Amino acid sequence: MTQEKDIQSLSKDEARAELAQLATRLADANREYHTNDAPTLSDAEYDRLKRRNAAIETAFPDLKRADSPSEQVGAPVADGFGKITHAVAMLSLGNAFEDADVSDFVDRIYKFLGMHETAELAFTAEPKIDGLSLSLRYENGQLKQAATRGDGAVGENVTANALTIADIPQTLIGAPDVLEVRGEVYMSHADFDALNLRQEKAGDKVFANPRNAAAGSLRQLDAAITKARPLKFFAYAWGDLSAPLADTQMGAIERLAELGFVTNPLTKRCNGPAELIEHYKEIEVQRATLGYDIDGVVYKVDQLDLQSRLGFRSTTPRWAIAHKFAAELAWTRLEGIDIQVGRTGALSPVARLAPVTVGGVVVSNATLHNEDYIVGRDNKGEEIRGGKDIRVGDWVQVYRAGDVIPKVADVDLSKRPDDSAPYEFPTICPECQSDAIREEGDAVRRCSGGMICPAQAIEKLKHFVSRKAFDIEGLGAKQIEMFFDDTDLAINTPVDIFTLQSRDESNFTKLKNRKGWGDQSAANLFLAIEEKRDIPFGKALFALGIRHVGEAASNMLATHYGNWKTFREAMDEATAQAGSAWEELLSIDGVGETMARSLVSAFAQERERDIIDTLAGHLRIQDAERPKTEGSPVAGKVVVFTGSLEKMTRAEAKARAESLGAKVAGSVSGKTDLLVAGPGAGSKAKKAADLGVETIDEDAWLALIEGL
Ligand code: IVH
Repeated sequence: MTQEKDIQSLSKDEARAELAQLATRLADANREYHTNDAPTLSDAEYDRLKRRNAAIETAFPDLKRADSPSEQVGAPVADGFGKITHAVAMLSLGNAFEDADVSDFVDRIYKFLGMHETAELAFTAEPKIDGLSLSLRYENGQLKQAATRGDGAVGENVTANALTIADIPQTLIGAPDVLEVRGEVYMSHADFDALNLRQEKAGDKVFANPRNAAAGSLRQLDAAITKARPLKFFAYAWGDLSAPLADTQMGAIERLAELGFVTNPLTKRCNGPAELIEHYKEIEVQRATLGYDIDGVVYKVDQLDLQSRLGFRSTTPRWAIAHKFAAELAWTRLEGIDIQVGRTGALSPVARLAPVTVGGVVVSNATLHNEDYIVGRDNKGEEIRGGKDIRVGDWVQVYRAGDVIPKVADVDLSKRPDDSAPYEFPTICPECQSDAIREEGDAVRRCSGGMICPAQAIEKLKHFVSRKAFDIEGLGAKQIEMFFDDTDLAINTPVDIFTLQSRDESNFTKLKNRKGWGDQSAANLFLAIEEKRDIPFGKALFALGIRHVGEAASNMLATHYGNWKTFREAMDEATAQAGSAWEELLSIDGVGETMARSLVSAFAQERERDIIDTLAGHLRIQDAERPKTEGSPVAGKVVVFTGSLEKMTRAEAKARAESLGAKVAGSVSGKTDLLVAGPGAGSKAKKAADLGVETIDEDAWLALIEGL
């Protein structure tokens, strides 16, 4: 750069040229910082250039550029972070709320492993840190990559930001060649208070709680801002590894501490549920004085070989659980009850509350679940809250546990206004005036309007673009509201999303010329949509929002059928709800009658089927990823277990076979490839023999899968 002049002596042309130069230089530096290990500018030089840019802008306000670097500080740019696919998925934890849930967790493990009830089993217990999880990838002792959890499979690249956190070592000595360390980024109470004070003084955004402050600070495009924020990190788990860290969870945590990570000092080895609960209580006592937020205690099976035998359900490990602390409570006035219509037509009552702070967050809405909950009855017809109903004007107790939606727990009848009346639940849909019907055995009243109900259509679309579904950058709930029923460029069904660009091209007025849009934002939206034409099978299915077919089930169905075409044909064949395709659907782990019925009826309804098929024609639905089954002799095979197994339980055998890519069926048929028969095998063994299905015993099975 040319010698810098005093700002007062800059001519207007010189100022314009220098602002242009600074914009390019700072943008380059930002990019470098995020993609390279070696940033091109020092922090001090970067800051100096930013200050000079701001000073020139102050002296020449009319020259301020549209892409001014001073506007980009911390601005949430939509696709600012690169994406990182986790080598090992970052899963979440199941929850326990009561002591009984903890014993159930332990019992399930004993059962799964087939352990005798007198056998000892060790666990670790440690605080559940209320921050956000981060995965740090080290290669040959160097920190190479830091990624947020994201959707568990793909996270955001926040390497530059992680490098500014003092608790995170940049080099490790004596670590395995590949080591992914996982843990929680958080902010201490003291640092949070000081940060908010600074923010307030500077007229900047004040954070609601330390977790939001930590998340907002880590997810900064400008790593210089992250650096100025006091973030901390506890290591508690790992992902990809080239060599084991230890034999036990406790040993692995100790090893991480030796490598230079901060690990939680309240981590303790415990035997059995009683000891776990004792340590939980101990941590609960210390909670208020720890100086950082925790929201429970995490229990993990200590022996790592047992962890791997236990494995995972679709999104949570069998070998760990989070025992949550009781929710925080507060009393406030119920000002009104609104009815929201969801994507499946459910009429959901929402409490409008006089704002109240619960656990550090201001709450003004809470769910009231359904009609019966307001009346004071649960789904088995038993009383809740001692049968007290909820009325507008009531003094109600509200609680929040972690991230979940606030709920109404109780009513103070002594404060009930004299003129209050029981709440009358609507019997017509407030959005489309269709009848709202309650079916036998259903606690939920539903709008019968189907796709003619705008609320259902809009909620279905919001679900379609949501994070766990299509997750289209720049097309969120707000934009769906905007495009829905738009006169020139309507999005009424998911198909309309994928025709948006071509329709815009043939329109006279273009999206880019609309208020709030420009060349760049319109182009970005079309690009983001284009990118999502390639979509994993499980996500595409989940996105359809078919009742009872959630994320886990969608992935399970995808893994089972492998590709869209096979699945689609199976749905047609199963329409009659009988026959082999129907049987096969029901044999899938986790698919019950209710889900199966809901699924086939979605494909049997003309309008819904047309939308789905047209949509599929606009997409490239990727075949489901098979579990890692390289070298697995049972990948894709249909296996049946029968008789008693002696080396492992049926549940473990099934989970293991599935993790090796096999499909485990409950009965022998022409499709069966292999029968594993233990002692006492009866009719199934006979049928297999009749059909000529290969039959082996448990030892042969173990030999077959050994070392995989
Ligand atoms: S272990 C396979 N340990 O809780 C699961 N998680 O609800 C490995 N978390 O996403 C996670 N403290 O962000 C584990 N001591 C702890 C934790 C912890 C906080 C978070 C983590 C995870 C979430 C799951």
